[in-house]
Amino acid sequence: MNKKLNVLISSEDLQKRIKELATQINNDYKGEKITLVCVLKGGVMFFTDLAKHLTIDVEFDFLDVSSYGNEQVSSGIVKVNKDLDSPVTGKKVIVVEDIIDTGHSLVRIKEHLLSQQPADLKIAVLLDKPERREAKIQQPEYIGFTIPNKFVVGFGLDDGQLLRNLDYVGYVTFEE
Ligand code: IMP
Ligand code: MG
Repeated sequence: MNKKLNVLISSEDLQKRIKELATQINNDYKGEKITLVCVLKGGVMFFTDLAKHLTIDVEFDFLDVSSYGNEQVSSGIVKVNKDLDSPVTGKKVIVVEDIIDTGHSLVRIKEHLLSQQPADLKIAVLLDKPERREAKIQQPEYIGFTIPNKFVVGFGLDDGQLLRNLDYVGYVTFEE
């Protein structure tokens, strides 16, 4: 059986949509400063491409969380591995994450950041897999693409830590 990589969202489509989201953010935060929080490691490609198109004032910070147990089946328990460099108290924050799947990670991230009393907290996800949602969580304010219930890789998303570097979002199939 050979592993075959298939394109779900092309590099061109990703870039076009990310530019649109940046325009939306530029309009929503006109004349304001935001803290863009990258959720490591999956959010990194979306984060850097989104940031390049922002014309408002932007600070960067980074957060790393992980779910316990099997990577592909979120257990619902999430821990903070790397915290922000500075608390976001009084700041306008946009969290940048690769995907919302069950929603447990984002619930934990939101809780964690809200405890620091930011002035505003919004979520930007590149991908939304609504069929898999378990957690009670409001829809992210900025969503790149809604995708079917498929395990995807590339553009930050990994399969056993590999394939994050692809410039497209793909999925794996197995062929004879
Ligand atoms: P959630 O807590 O179930 O919403 O999952 C969030 C995290 O699970 C994401 O930030 C990803 O790191 C990972 N994840 C969810 N679905 C996929 C996928 O299709 N491919 C790769 N990683 C995924
Ligand atoms: Mg992630």
